[in-house]
Amino acid sequence: MKKLIVSLASTAILSLGISGSALADKHAFNDAESAVDYRQSAFSIMRANFVAMAEMVKGDVDYDASIFEQRAEDFARLSQIPWAGFTTEGAMPGDNTDALPEIWDNWDDFKKRSEDLIADAKSLAEASTSGSLETIKPAFMAAAKNCKGCHDNYKD
Ligand code: HEC
Repeated sequence: MKKLIVSLASTAILSLGISGSALADKHAFNDAESAVDYRQSAFSIMRANFVAMAEMVKGDVDYDASIFEQRAEDFARLSQIPWAGFTTEGAMPGDNTDALPEIWDNWDDFKKRSEDLIADAKSLAEASTSGSLETIKPAFMAAAKNCKGCHDNYKD
């Protein structure tokens, strides 16, 4: 089945190549609206992982070290993804986005905040390998504070 999907995918890519114009499709890196979709989707998958960890940190769900570790690893990877969706030209505020114009007026600060999240998410993934909630908790809280800090300044 996997082989079939791979071969279908390469056929699709080949036919895109032949019909040239299909390659000019709008996508996250050349089209503002698609860039907004891209970053919002990335944030929402990132949040899903974050919420799953929060439930264990708060004790609403029993702590399971291996599930937590998976969520923390995915979260660390996903924390790197949304930002490319802010760099496409024209991906500025509009009806379909909660991003505030201040982002592009204070780009260095916004970028620094995104890098802080990435660094804290990486530390959380490292802490998660300890298998100890006591070690994980402070790392989780450190990662969590980035969300509100940035949203308060840059999200409607
Ligand atoms: C550096 C800034 C920054 C950080 C850090 C940040 N966010 Fe956001 N987030 C934004 C901005 C800006 C938007 C609005 C994006 C848009 O609508 O185009 C957003 C939107 C979202 C959305 C809504 C996505 C949608 O479907 O519209 C969720 C969910 C979200 N963030 C979760 C998080 C979580 C969870 C964290 C922390 C783990 C976090 N964010 C950290 C800037 C940030």
